[in-house]
Parts: sequence; structure tokens; C-alpha cells
Amino acid sequence: MESRREVEGMMRKVARTWGYREICTPEFEELELFTIRSGEGIIQEMYVFEDKGGRKMALRPELTAPVLRMYVNEGRTLQKPLRWYYFADCFRYERPQKGRYRQFWQFGVELIGADSPIAEAEVIMLAHEALSSSGISFSLHVGHLSFMRVLLQELEPDEQKRARMFLDKKDTAGLEDYLSSRDHSGLSDRLIALAGCRDLKEACAITGDNPDRKRIEDLFTILDQSGICYTLNPGIARGLDYYTGMVFEAFAENLGAENQVLGGGTYRLAHLFGGEDTPSCGFAIGFDRVMVARGDKGTAGGVVIGLAFTPEGRGWALTVAREFRRAGICISFDLSGRSIGQQISHISRTADFALIIGARERDEQVVTLKDLRSGMQKELTLSNALCEVRGADPR
Ligand code: HAM
Repeated sequence: MESRREVEGMMRKVARTWGYREICTPEFEELELFTIRSGEGIIQEMYVFEDKGGRKMALRPELTAPVLRMYVNEGRTLQKPLRWYYFADCFRYERPQKGRYRQFWQFGVELIGADSPIAEAEVIMLAHEALSSSGISFSLHVGHLSFMRVLLQELEPDEQKRARMFLDKKDTAGLEDYLSSRDHSGLSDRLIALAGCRDLKEACAITGDNPDRKRIEDLFTILDQSGICYTLNPGIARGLDYYTGMVFEAFAENLGAENQVLGGGTYRLAHLFGGEDTPSCGFAIGFDRVMVARGDKGTAGGVVIGLAFTPEGRGWALTVAREFRRAGICISFDLSGRSIGQQISHISRTADFALIIGARERDEQVVTLKDLRSGMQKELTLSNALCEVRGADPR
């Protein structure tokens, strides 16, 4: 938990410096909120239950729909664009494995009420900085759904969804089989070529006319100016149904199959929840996957002191402990009530210093400080003992 809190703190700090404010939504919502536009994959994985009023509810599988519901209910009159971030748990009934859990945490942002290449670039740059702050190595892929949309328009809407699912899972064999069973085998070659293409001109050549071309070029020019490292990837399909344009994902370099640590893009949801049509853009980081990718680096904790004392020294020991804690130093009493020697040997297993207080220390208002690494022992005034310990603090 200490490592998690440290990484969470770094991501929060990044979000705050970009002007994003924290919000919180309920753990469960009406089921319909997610069935409107979240897509087949997520609907099948939801934890659904009926409440006492007979309403169908779901544990949130993600936060974009809840955040937009909250925006429509409570944020419509606020000055736009709104910059919101969240750190919250989600629930999906998936087959658990390394990096894939039924309860997992997302750190995400939603930029609501802005519609421009610079707005999209802001979200991508913020995502890059938040992920970088965790210290993991990752690659960032940025695409745009319009490439795929141009190619898929020869299919029926249901067929388009199926084809996008195969593309999202990078299942090219499945895509080929499916499209040839539908008499569209020529299309799978072009889709597979598009998914493998990493160059804007080449992507435009595969798809032909693209109405969003100017906007896409602007976005990539801004990303180049920003200096972040990214790969253009027109093959990104995203598993959720609400995306409308720019889409992006990040992959950790040292994870196995579940290596996608971030997903996001532009979308429109507000009008489906009773609000005005509002362009929005956001992303969510799979926090647990980031922690797996980091490995157990641990945190540099502060100095730890164990306090050994005799019954005569107890009153002075309480005063001394209070002063150390006020100075922000971790100090714990030995609670065993055994001899001073036994207390010190017990403390030496978990602490950096032993502070020893008996009748003599009480009478002279001093403490005995033993450095448990070197074995050196000194008698010091309280303020000198504080200085000594502070000097040994790695933080
Ligand atoms: P998503 O791609 O479904 O997007 O989830 C975002 C991230 O959550 C994934 O990239 C992955 O790292 C993590 N994740 C998903 N499922 C699991 C799981 N079962 N166990 C562990 N981690 C998981 C969204 O949820 C969108 N709401 C992102 C977004 C925000 N788009 C716009 N704004």
C-alpha cells in the first residue's frame, strides 16, 4: 500500500499541475448508464443487481459514463472546459489472471467541453506525464477512428461492431474468417494493412479520402512539437463504443498478455444522459497493471526507533516519544514489559535505533540512543537525540 500511495500521489500531483480537479462518483449506478454506449464487451462483464426498489443497478465497470452523468446532473452550469480527474475502483467480471482483476483501480481524467486538436493533445501529453511519473517503461500509441470508419462503411452497423472487436483484440485470423464469411474478404486485407501502418501518409493512401485529415494532421503536429515519444497507430479500435475520433493506448514494456496500461480518446456521451451534445476527451490508467510493471521497488521509509523503558522511566519515555512524533519521526514503545536487554534485542530486529530510558535517564532528563547498525551507544539531551536521528533519516 505504501508503494501504491506513493505512485498515486505522483499521478495526483501531475493532474493538479495541469489544472485538473478531483471528483468522486458513486460505486454503483443504474445499469442503463452503462448499457447505452459502453459496448458489448463491458456489458457482459458487469456485476448487476436489483435494489430493494426493483431497480437494476451495476457496480461501475469504468468511470467515463458516471463522470458524464455527474456532469449532466451537477456540472452543466460550470464554466467549460471542465478538467476533472479521479482515482477509483472499478468492477468487471473477467477471468482473473496476472494484471486482470475483478476489482481494479483506475486513475483517469476527463476534459469536458473542448473540441480541438490542442485539447486532444493536452489529454495525451497529460497521460504521458502521469504514466512517466510512475517510473515504468511504456510505449504510447495514438490513432484516429476515422481511418477505420472510412474502410468499415461498406459493412452493416452490426458487422462494423464485430469487425472492430476483432481489431481491438488484434485477432487478424478471426477478422479474416468473419469478413470472408460475409463476402468482404478484400476488406480484411486493407484493414490488416491499416492496423500495421505507422505513417500518416500511408494510412491516408490505404483509406482514400478522409474528412478528418486536416484535424488529424494538426494533432500530430502538436504532438511532435510537444516532444513526447509516441507511435502513430491507425489500427487502434478501443473496446468501448463511445469513442468518436482520436483514440490512444499505452503498453508497458515488461508485462505479458495484459500489457495495456492506459486507454482513452475523444467521445460524446452527455447528450445520451439528458444533456447537450458536449465534446469530451479523456483516458484511464490501469493502476494495478502499473504497479505490476513497476515490480516491488518498495519505498524509502523514514528512520524507525524502538523505545525500551523501565517502569521508573515510563513518564519521561512518554514525553520523549511525544517529542519525536511531533518532529515527524516514527517511534514505538516496546510493549513486552521484559528486561531492558530483552527489549533491545527485540527492537533490533525491526528498528534503526533503540532509545533507552530508565530511572537514571529520567533523573538527568537525558536519553540513551543506540544505533542498531553500528552498535554505538550515546547519552544525549532530548534535542541532541532528535538532531542525531534526523541526520540519519534518508528522506
Ligand atoms: P479501458 O481501456 O476499458 O478504458 O480501461 C482503462 C485501463 O484500465 C486499461 O487500459 C487497463 O489498464 C485497465 N483495466 C481494464 N480492465 C482491467 C482489469 N480487469 N484489471 C486490471 N486493469 C484493468 C476505460 O475504462 C475508459 N473509461 C477510459 C477513458 C476515460 N476513455 C475516456 N476517458
